[in-house]
Amino acid sequence: MCGITGYIGDNKTTDILVDGLKRLEYRGYDSCGIAVVDGKNSLYLKRVSGRVDALDKLVTAEPVKGAQAGVGHTRWATHGAPSEDNAHPHTDCTGQVVVVHNGIIENYLDLKEKLQAGGHKFKSETDTEVIAHLMEEKLKSLHVQEKSARAEMIEPVFFEAFRRTVADLKGSFALSMVWSRCPAMLLAARMHSPLVVGLGKGENFIASDVSAFLKYTKRVVFLNDGEMAAVKKDGIDFYTFAGKKTAKESVTIQWDSTMAEKGGYKHFMLKEIHEQAEAVENTLRGRLLPLGGNLLETEMGLTAATMKGVSALQFIACGTAYHACLVGRVLFENFGIPAHADVASEFTDRAKLMNKGTLVVAISQSGETADTLFAVREAKAAGAKVLAITNTVGSTLTREADHVLYTHCGPEIGVASTKAFLGQLAAIYLLAGHFAAARGALSSAEARRYAEELLKIPRLIEETLEKETEIAKAAEAFAASEHFLFISRHINYPIALEGALKIKEISYVHAEGYAAGEMKHGPIAIIYKGMPLLAVAPTGRTLELMAGNIEEAKARGADVVAIVDAASKKTIKASRYIILPETGELFTPMLTVIPLQLFAYYVALAKKCDIDKPRNLAKSVTVR
Ligand code: AGP
Repeated sequence: MCGITGYIGDNKTTDILVDGLKRLEYRGYDSCGIAVVDGKNSLYLKRVSGRVDALDKLVTAEPVKGAQAGVGHTRWATHGAPSEDNAHPHTDCTGQVVVVHNGIIENYLDLKEKLQAGGHKFKSETDTEVIAHLMEEKLKSLHVQEKSARAEMIEPVFFEAFRRTVADLKGSFALSMVWSRCPAMLLAARMHSPLVVGLGKGENFIASDVSAFLKYTKRVVFLNDGEMAAVKKDGIDFYTFAGKKTAKESVTIQWDSTMAEKGGYKHFMLKEIHEQAEAVENTLRGRLLPLGGNLLETEMGLTAATMKGVSALQFIACGTAYHACLVGRVLFENFGIPAHADVASEFTDRAKLMNKGTLVVAISQSGETADTLFAVREAKAAGAKVLAITNTVGSTLTREADHVLYTHCGPEIGVASTKAFLGQLAAIYLLAGHFAAARGALSSAEARRYAEELLKIPRLIEETLEKETEIAKAAEAFAASEHFLFISRHINYPIALEGALKIKEISYVHAEGYAAGEMKHGPIAIIYKGMPLLAVAPTGRTLELMAGNIEEAKARGADVVAIVDAASKKTIKASRYIILPETGELFTPMLTVIPLQLFAYYVALAKKCDIDKPRNLAKSVTVR
């Protein structure tokens, strides 16, 4: 899960590559680099261990004039420690071939052994470097080592050597390559790792994600697995791995590059927390039955008859998206519709239990999470239909699913997911409403009330956000704590898990989310005097039980911050309250999660953590 950029054209190549890397830093940021070629077949390589800002400084201090094509990379280490030697781009022995790669080359040890036996000298511990040396071999076998090789031979040779190199690779890869002897062409290939090309005028782009080049063009072509692209400044040709030319349609991205900027907020995370009302509104817009017609069905191709025929839903996802799945499970079960939720990386044997009657709902902001994609493939192989809930148009997940329900949250840049989670919840509530109506679990009057309640959520989110100052104060009061507990029950239990995940991710402290009723079965032993305990306790069927669990925790010394509404506050005794607006019990997760996001944000701020780029993490996890 690294970020790749590529550029060919007459603009400032190095600036475009570095700027693109800055936008892709959410994919990894332990080292980075660029390689550019000029019209005189010279290649310049600049790499640093650390963030793109350091690379930017290096490139500014030692500018490369006349660069007309190049590739860039920001890394999240898999093979080999984060260091300058292991930073991409990697070169062959001649220093003429340069490659950037995202993914894992599974047969790299085999390849490396053979290449070393043939005299190749490796400079890094990475799997990626084998690609450059392999390319060197393929070029050699095509007899173009002599400088005198005719110019018109160079492009086909570069392409053919690349094709043969790719054919020898096993595993997952998005890669892009430059050869200093062919400055008029960049090559790219994709297998199980996202790659997209951007179509400009007299210039073209390559990236792992459109946000790298949205500033320059919104017209893009997504590569599929098994496809390659030969990118020149005036055009792009697409091929299969077998070398067969293939026609591809371009799509226009609606996101604006300014939508991905901070807009006056200190961090993307805070900006994105504040965009949640809009994210929910955009996701719901025009899709609510019975208020808004049957747009949702038309979009997804999921008819009422299909919804009636589904025997069970199986939610799968990772991290925050998995917490959305858990909310989904409770919601569907509440309507009497069997539903299960699993972490995608633990789906292995359960996948075999899927069948034609199962609707697998795979949730992923990026649509590129390797664990989720793998689970989807397993479920499909067992005969299940897959519905994707994702924020990313054209992502791998959308292309592999049978039905797609987009969240319309706009780009999420902060590594800690916030508005994407709200978008996922909104999509789940939409879906549940449609299923319940189609299956008669909601009468038409009840479906109308459900839709009306849902439509109020964006306004209630705004009201919840007004509590920011109080939440910040509570967070500051506990910021020095090394341990946090989050508890809740029923449909808010996943919110307790999400609260704990948020604070772990960005503050690096120990936090646990528990089903409140489970505390007495063991975890209560960890409570000590003054331990912060955040209890999510809105009005609902489990309120009395929650009140009891909070008392048990207080009796052992917990210092309780209660997330309540005006009515439930009367039942809950805590040292601090965050009072939320009231909504129907089932809808509360869309409000209760907000104070926990803000709490995590302000704890991390007080601890001076790198909130948008927490250590050890990457936004999109494209390795298993
Ligand atoms: C959440 O804050 C995380 N960054 C992470 O758990 C994330 O939700 C998970 O990796 C899934 O990502 P996806 O939605 O892009 O599939």
